[in-house]
Formats: sequence, structure tokens, C-alpha cells
Amino acid sequence: MNIAVIGTGYVGLTSGVCFAELGNTVICVDIDTNKIDQLNNGLMPIYEPNLKEIVQKNKLLNRISFTTDFKNAVNQSEIVIIAVGTPSLEDGDVDVSYVESAAKEIAKHINGYKVIVNKSTVPVGTGELVRTIIKNNAKEKVDFDVASVPEFLREGSAVNDFFNSDRIVIGTDSERAKSLLMELHSPLKTLVQSTDIRSAELIKYAANSFLAMKISFINEIANLAETLGANINDIAEGIGSDTRIGRRFLAAGIGFGGACFPKDTNGLIKIAEKAGHDFKLMQEVINVNKIQYKKMIHKLKLELDHIQRSTIAILGLSFKPNTDDIRDAPSIKLIKDLLSLYPGVQIRVFDPIAMPAVRDSIGEVVFYSKSIEEAVKNCDAALIVTEWNEIKEFGLDRYKSLLKQPIIIDGRNCFGLKEAFELGITYHSIGRKAVVTERQEVL
Ligand SMILES: NC(=O)c1ccc[n+]([C@@H]2O[C@H](COP(=O)([O-])OP(=O)(O)OC[C@H]3O[C@@H](n4cnc5c(N)ncnc54)[C@H](O)[C@@H]3O)[C@@H](O)[C@H]2O)c1
Repeated sequence: MNIAVIGTGYVGLTSGVCFAELGNTVICVDIDTNKIDQLNNGLMPIYEPNLKEIVQKNKLLNRISFTTDFKNAVNQSEIVIIAVGTPSLEDGDVDVSYVESAAKEIAKHINGYKVIVNKSTVPVGTGELVRTIIKNNAKEKVDFDVASVPEFLREGSAVNDFFNSDRIVIGTDSERAKSLLMELHSPLKTLVQSTDIRSAELIKYAANSFLAMKISFINEIANLAETLGANINDIAEGIGSDTRIGRRFLAAGIGFGGACFPKDTNGLIKIAEKAGHDFKLMQEVINVNKIQYKKMIHKLKLELDHIQRSTIAILGLSFKPNTDDIRDAPSIKLIKDLLSLYPGVQIRVFDPIAMPAVRDSIGEVVFYSKSIEEAVKNCDAALIVTEWNEIKEFGLDRYKSLLKQPIIIDGRNCFGLKEAFELGITYHSIGRKAVVTERQEVL
């Protein structure tokens, strides 16, 4: 099939190239000329495992191209996918202005029957809005259908997720659009759920909010476990083995971040508010998350008398491993809090991929280290914020030998308590007993 993808970010670029990999001809359009130039010059504007290889392969096969020219992209395609950003507005509401402009561009160039697919995460009713915009702005009367096909891929494993998704949701009221979209997705051999547009739109918010709720729930249990002297890893295993609960999304930590969960939980509250429903449960999920990263500062304070005169290593900056995305990352909030609460504190950071993005965001207020060694050497404490494999596999003994004093505050439970105790490391994690070596005991 001939497909246009509007918006070449994490979702648009990944799904565009994966549809090309399935044999379709895909034109990716973006308003960001810089991004399109990069892609045309073989450079990836984002980091995503396996993405570069699959883009290069499909470019060589002439199955994917990148442009800022909407006309050509829309004219040549029978399916037009909208995958532009839908960021949060200041009050938590969803900014659909990029979707609106994409719809206006489609209207300008629509030249025959097309299915307009919304892949951006959008409030319920946006499908109808897109339909109205195209209808009202099209130069001539053309036949088209609108569908909602929400995206469930995860950054850090986006390519793999595209080909191995748990399900595809197709929301449309048109049989013609449905059968075209069924055909498009049929090579993926996964469960396809067909529904109406509004339900498809709400499915995406409900899915992300449910996962966010699981994270806030396990973090609350972790906080309780710390107070009561229990171990959150064992608790997660104990409840996760119950198939009604499931093992996933039960890793206690310092809260969720990224481009989706914070914005979509807030978005759902706003969607509910406009429908006259006070979604108290979701508000609490957000409240719990907002303060969870502060636990690291609290634990650091327990161990260091003069944080303002200390040098602290912060390891891992992206909101989760295997991505360069730092949108709503706990690391940034932590750095900003430390710098404002303890003027004079020296912070050295390390991340395998996300340091350029952090530098763009906060500038030279921290020292960007070339390696874990450089970050940790002679520091008063190390804070583990994102569980990249190389940070987990670095070895507690090496951390100990490099740090000025062996203090580790681990926001992702990367290491065992026994190992930390045996090595004589003061080790605080989440939802587990603190190992405090001075007193040579597990408190
Ligand atoms: N990132 C994820 O993990 C993820 C997963 C599932 C769903 N989503 C949803 O998918 C959507 C896109 O997210 P993303 O992370 O890929 O965003 P992104 O910010 O990485 O990319 C959005 C792209 O859209 C482009 N754009 C904006 N307006 C445009 C327009 N009018 N015409 C053409 N291009 C335009 C931007 O320049 C940018 O390149 C959002 O609604 C998001 O909630 C994201």
C-alpha cells in the first residue's frame, strides 16, 4: 500500500519504517526541516535500537522517503497516518493543535478516497474533529474515512514492539476503512480488535493510565515496605505470580516519566473533567508519582551532612533505559532540586545516550562525564536513576573502589542487599532495608 505518515518522531518514524519493512511504500512528512534533512543524510534524529539499520535498508529499497512536501505525500497515498505530538498544555489538558494543522494540510491536498488514521494519542472526539476539519477545508468534495489506530509501542523497544504487539485496535465506523486497515496490519499476525473511534481513543488513555496506576501502586507499597521492614522485590514477586495481577510494571522505583504516562494521566483527568467526571483515582496516581523521586534526596540527606559541599554522581538520565528521551525524566527534576536546595553541590552525570539531550535542556550546570568511572571517581555518593545495563553491570565492587566514600542511593533496585553488605557499601534502594555499613548491620 502507499502510506503517508505525518510526523516523524518516535511513533511516526518507527511505524513508518516498520510499515515499509512489511513491503509498503511509505512517505514520512514533517514540518521540522532539520529532522528531514538528517534522515535524508542517513542520520537518525532519535535513538531507538535497530531503527537506523531498518531505515537504511528500506531507503535502499526505495520503500521509505522523507520530505516536508505534504502535497506529494498526501496525493500519492491511500492511507494517511497522523503521528504528530500531542503535548500537555500548562493545565494538563491535551494540545491537539498539531493534529489540527496536520488535518488542515491533508484537507489542502486530498485528491481522492483516503483513510485518515489517527495514531497520535488524542482526547475522545478528536476523530470527529479531524473529519470536520478535512470536510470543511477540502478544496473539492472528496470521499474519505477517519479511523483511530492508537499506538502502543514503547520507546527503547519500539521496533520490536511494532512487530510483536499484543494487539492492534482499529476504531472506525466505516467498513471500507476497516477492511483496508485489517489488510494493512494482517502481516503482523496479532489480535486485531475492531471498535468505534471514541472507544479506540479512550482505550489508549485507559491503557497508559492503568500502567501508570500499577507503578504508583507498587511505589506506595514500596514506601510502606520500607517503613515496615519488608522487601518490595519479594512482595512484587508474590503478587505478580497471581495471573490476575501479572508480573509486569511492578518494579518499584522513583516514578514514571517520559513523553506518555505523565501527559496521558493528566490528559485523562481533563477528558473526564470535561465529561463532568471527577477522576480522583487518577489524580492520586499522579500525586504519588510527583514526590516519589524526592525519596532519593531524603536518603542522601540521611548519609551526607553537607550535601552543598559534596560531589554527587548521577547515573542514568533518560526516563528509562535504551532511549535518549528525557521528557519528564526524574533525573532532570532531581538535578534541579539538588542544585536549588544545596547551592554549591557538584554534580557529575553519566548516561550512555541521553547526555546531549540533557545538555540542550539544562546546559552546563552539571559536569558531563565520558564514563561511569569518570562520573563516580572520588564522589561522596552515587545516585542510580536509570537502570541502563552498563550501570547495572558495572559491579558494586568497582563503584566501591572509585567512590570517596561508599554510598550508593539506588532508585531502581539494581543490586542485592547481601552483596552491598558484604562489600561494606552503604546502600539505599526502594522498598528494601537500607544497608548501613558504618554500623555493620542491615538496618
Ligand atoms: N513516544 C511514545 O512512546 C509514544 C507511544 C505511543 C503513542 N505516542 C503518541 O504518539 C504521538 C507522537 O508522539 P512522539 O513521541 O512520536 O512525538 P515526537 O515529538 O517524537 O514527534 C512528533 C513529530 O511531529 C512533527 N509535527 C508536529 N506537527 C506537525 C505537522 N503539522 N505536520 C507534520 N509534522 C508535524 C514534529 O516535528 C515531530 O517530529 C503523541 O500523541 C504521543 O502521545 C507516543
